[in-house]
Amino acid sequence: MKRSNGLKFVITVVVLMLGIAVAGSAFAQRGSDFALFDQHGVFHQISRYNEARAVVLFVYGNDDPASVEALPLLRDLRDRYSEDDVIFLLLDANQHDTRASVLAADLEFPVLLDSAQVVARTLAVTTTAESFIINPKSHRILYRGPLDSRIAVAEANPAMPVPYLESALKAILANVDDAAPAVPAVVGMPIVFEYKERFGDRQISYQDEVVPILRRRCTTCHIENGLAPWAMISHRMMQGWSPMVREVLITRRMPPGQIDTQIGEWDDIHDITDDELTTLVHWIDGGARREGDADPLTELEPIDPAWSLGEPDLIVEVPEEAIPATGIVDFKIKRVALDLDEDKWISAVAYNVGDRTVLHSLLVHALDPDVPASDPAAQIAPENAEYISLYVPGRTEEVFAEDSGFLLKADRDLSFKLRYVSSGRETVDRTRIGLYFRDTEPTYAVRNVITLNENFTIPAGVDNHVEEAQTPVFEHDVYVESFAPQTHTRGKSMTISALYPDGTSQLLINVGNYNFNWQMNYRLTERLLLPAGSRLVSETVFDNSPANPHNVDPEAEVRVGITTWDETFSHYVRILERR
Ligand code: HEC
Repeated sequence: MKRSNGLKFVITVVVLMLGIAVAGSAFAQRGSDFALFDQHGVFHQISRYNEARAVVLFVYGNDDPASVEALPLLRDLRDRYSEDDVIFLLLDANQHDTRASVLAADLEFPVLLDSAQVVARTLAVTTTAESFIINPKSHRILYRGPLDSRIAVAEANPAMPVPYLESALKAILANVDDAAPAVPAVVGMPIVFEYKERFGDRQISYQDEVVPILRRRCTTCHIENGLAPWAMISHRMMQGWSPMVREVLITRRMPPGQIDTQIGEWDDIHDITDDELTTLVHWIDGGARREGDADPLTELEPIDPAWSLGEPDLIVEVPEEAIPATGIVDFKIKRVALDLDEDKWISAVAYNVGDRTVLHSLLVHALDPDVPASDPAAQIAPENAEYISLYVPGRTEEVFAEDSGFLLKADRDLSFKLRYVSSGRETVDRTRIGLYFRDTEPTYAVRNVITLNENFTIPAGVDNHVEEAQTPVFEHDVYVESFAPQTHTRGKSMTISALYPDGTSQLLINVGNYNFNWQMNYRLTERLLLPAGSRLVSETVFDNSPANPHNVDPEAEVRVGITTWDETFSHYVRILERR
């Protein structure tokens, strides 16, 4: 659909030229950082390319003739600019294109799948075949328009192909700050925006649509005395924070610890659905308004620190820790003697957190009492300490399945690995742990295996260092129940797969955007059988470059160790074993 009726066409071109000339007189438009998964399950965030000179983004459609025509041109561009640190990405906002259908197209480019259509909305994309050049540091849009006059351009038969995007790219790489040359309009395949049908022009309801999402997804932490630095306690507060909320939503920073939910089915994880995301973004873009006077956010109950499962059978006090107002707080490793008179089967672990504003994670282990207290690393080393449970923000307890329990031997001590993040205010954390015991023996023992790699070195500055680890082969049938992957600040992403005795493998979890501040436990909705002879395999990617915003020192060569400055690759997997 390159040409339409003559007059309409002339008008469109004039309008678009004007639009671009005005918007681009300084050759740039304000943009926004954003993040999406691609067809392979790899997470891409524009600001993570901040070491590159430019990001070229082409709006793609799987069955779109203009996209098919554009691919060889993009490939050619990418090859010719391979020395210039230019990143080439495709953006697909068509809801009928799925990860599987895009994967089947077997493209050489990452295709960012914008199923919630919020990135396309942010970039004001309306059709396929439009292309962008984005500055990955400032997120500014340096160019938008056609790739080339051969690709879906509303322009009379060009005698010679005009390389619009390449000219702009050349100028950008040469740091020439020319006024934007006018470019013709792109006429690709129109993108059907699902939310236009859903919302039309109506205002989103704060009370009925927005607040329920905030309660489901945000207020476990964004509440008075919660973990988050600001509380969602009124419409006014939400409205004031709304530009920031938009940004953390489209960069997938909040809710924190999101994983690739196209792999596996999960319980009790921090997530937000496409519908919820679209609703919030649409509401914010409409001015974050409230209808009527009622404000359900003001009625939120503060967190009740009491034991919600009832009085525990045993309360253990974690030795207190003073947290400074600012600075990186290194992991804290602690130990407590229990003096039990007999073995116990644990049915649940509850957390009574002292200061929720600073405690980000707490790992609880059953420790061999012969380990000398003088060696910090030994207190949590897997050969001495068996992982029992993990506290993460928003979770007050971990209840094991009804037919299972963790065997706590009478002689064991408890050891803890705590991760604190300073909150701007000095404080002392006194957290207590409640253990609940079973009266009867369970059918399944709660056990753990670790995909552990203790022997690797990450060179300084490398952004994609891949390591692997696997568990030993299971000698009996076991069930997998949950995953708690752990690295330190260079960890970027990890997958864990099952390798079955017949040689086939199945991806079980894809943590595409790991953030060491948010160590999570991801629990499957249904436990998964691993027949005898299977094993678990993990691949973990480390980013030791300056592009990693969490990296404590990109100039250091990194080895395995227990401080924040070292690395770790120890992904805990909870399994259930028949006794
Ligand atoms: C598990 C706890 C938790 C949940 C759930 C959560 N947040 Fe946060 N949020 C935090 C913490 C902690 C911070 C402080 C910054 C950080 O750690 O990244 C924060 C920071 C923010 C910020 C400020 C960012 C900045 O740079 O100052 C915004 C905005 C925000 N959250 C929005 C949301 C929204 C919207 C939701 C729900 C969709 C949500 N959060 C869910 C814990 C949470």
